[in-house]
Amino acid sequence: MFINKCLLRFARDCRGPIARLCSIELLSVALATLISLLIAFLVQMLLGKTRILCFTSVWEIIPIIFVLVVIRASIVKQKNVASAKCGIKVKDSLRVQMLNKLFALGPAYTATKRTGNIGTMFVSKIEWLKNYYSIYAPAAVATFVNSLLLIIVIACFDVPTALVCVVAFVGLFFCPMTFYKIMKERGDAEWEANSQYYSDCLDSIQGLTTLKAFNADEKQRQKMHCAGENLRQKVMSLLKITMIETGVLEFLVRLGSAASIVVAVSRFLDGYIEPDGLIYTLFLVTACFVPMLTLSNSWHIGYKGVTGAYSLRAFLDEPQKRSLNSADIGEQSAFSAEFTGSIVFDHVSFSYDKNEGDVLKNVSFEIPNKSMMALVGASGSGKSTIAHLLAGFYPAESGVIRVGNMELTRENISPIRDLISAVWQDNHIFYGTVYDNILIGKPEATMDEVIAAAKESNIHDFIQSLPEGYNTLLGEQGVRFSGGERQRIALARAFLRDAPVVIFDEATSSLDRRNEIEIQKSLKMLREEKTVLVIAHRLETIRDADRICIMDAGEVKACGTHEELLHSSALYNRLVGYQLA
Ligand SMILES: Nc1ncnc2c1ncn2[C@@H]1O[C@H](COP(=O)(O)OP(=O)(O)OP(=O)(O)O)[C@@H](O)[C@H]1O
Ligand SMILES: [Mg+2]
Repeated sequence: MFINKCLLRFARDCRGPIARLCSIELLSVALATLISLLIAFLVQMLLGKTRILCFTSVWEIIPIIFVLVVIRASIVKQKNVASAKCGIKVKDSLRVQMLNKLFALGPAYTATKRTGNIGTMFVSKIEWLKNYYSIYAPAAVATFVNSLLLIIVIACFDVPTALVCVVAFVGLFFCPMTFYKIMKERGDAEWEANSQYYSDCLDSIQGLTTLKAFNADEKQRQKMHCAGENLRQKVMSLLKITMIETGVLEFLVRLGSAASIVVAVSRFLDGYIEPDGLIYTLFLVTACFVPMLTLSNSWHIGYKGVTGAYSLRAFLDEPQKRSLNSADIGEQSAFSAEFTGSIVFDHVSFSYDKNEGDVLKNVSFEIPNKSMMALVGASGSGKSTIAHLLAGFYPAESGVIRVGNMELTRENISPIRDLISAVWQDNHIFYGTVYDNILIGKPEATMDEVIAAAKESNIHDFIQSLPEGYNTLLGEQGVRFSGGERQRIALARAFLRDAPVVIFDEATSSLDRRNEIEIQKSLKMLREEKTVLVIAHRLETIRDADRICIMDAGEVKACGTHEELLHSSALYNRLVGYQLA
């Protein structure tokens, strides 16, 4: 029987629905057995028996059989409903656990995985587990209990016949385990191919514009074809072994049933079983083997449940070394922490991958409370990495980051995150209305607050000009809006959030000069109340900052005002020179 510790652990939150489903399944199998027994009584009576238990005529038995058949049909209906409900509950519970874990692992995890891989895990593997709990487990439990009880009853009539049933019973429940290793190897290979195929599909859809622009559709089609062919081979290879396994099991069960009947009849002919006993034995053997036969056809659901549970456990037990997030997102604190200090990076070093060396080297700076600091420097010099560390996406490897009087640690990340609002280089626009997308900044905000934020980011007039205003549907990833419009939506979110620390990572890079000037005005007001970290390539955007730090190859080379740097930093002068040129 396919069961393991992980499966028991995942079932913890859904014990009620699973137990209910198992009971209904058991009842349905028990009713089928009872009907078989009554038919045996009926046959006995037709053969001349005048009294069995309290029955004295076939007309007393036939109506009961009819009623039981009707009851069983209604129980089967209830079973299907309970199975669907149980499946939904299992999926809900697992998805919540996985989402919690994914949020806890954060960008440090997703940056190392293909979206398609994570997507298939959320869809397919959860579906496997759902089928395990809502189809296989109840059938296995009911068959196990029913067969065990019937074998005991058969043993009362004839022990050798019962022993043959025991052999088939043991074979049905334990034979699949002998195929487990080879199934696992092929199953893993199929899973790998499936994830790759799905990820490639997603890549093709997301990169459609680029592929078209470079006339690279044919190459991508070939790539997809190879991935599809690889998947087909892996599926067929798994199917082959699945069919052999199902065939072997079905053969075993049918052989067991035939052998039990042959043994029972020969024992009758040898005089060990009474004629009555033979009739009962034959009906009981049938009642014992029919559910076994049904189970033998759904054993692969059990196998998928076991493998799905292993990989889900591997994901849920993934160590959070590279993440600062709390594992329990329910613990997030209210938006209440009062920010009264500065932001300090004290000798911070960091690498995404140890083998590739440090991306930040001994970085130290301070952003005083209610001031604006800008980071400038060449592409790849580590500016966004500093912002990512401040937002708690990754933990610093050495050194200390302080926000106000709090050190950025796993324990503090939740209240610190409440203090921070950010606009990134690549902001995600969710499928939904303009209003929903801005509201992400502060879900409890009123319409007036949303409008005020949109005005600050200079997008209100544009939204008003749309036929459905704030209710306009933004396509997936905001495709219906221009890059600059999307950026202003992201800015509106940040303004709405109204957090005391603001990070702008190239937040105005897609805007035209007129829009940027308007937003600069909002920024000027912002810096009087907030601590702001701005990252920008355009020096025009940051020349008014209280302090500008210039980065090069992961190090802070110089800090000062625009004028000070012009006098003291050759690197800064070079940057200014490039921009003028
Ligand atoms: N998730 C990641 N995994 C591995 N390396 C990364 C990751 N993100 C960034 N890097 C590397 O870290 C270095 C610093 O990247 P970062 O994004 O901080 O640069 P940046 O100064 O913001 O550049 P830009 O001005 O182009 O945005 C780069 O060499 C980059 O390749
Ligand atoms: Mg960057």
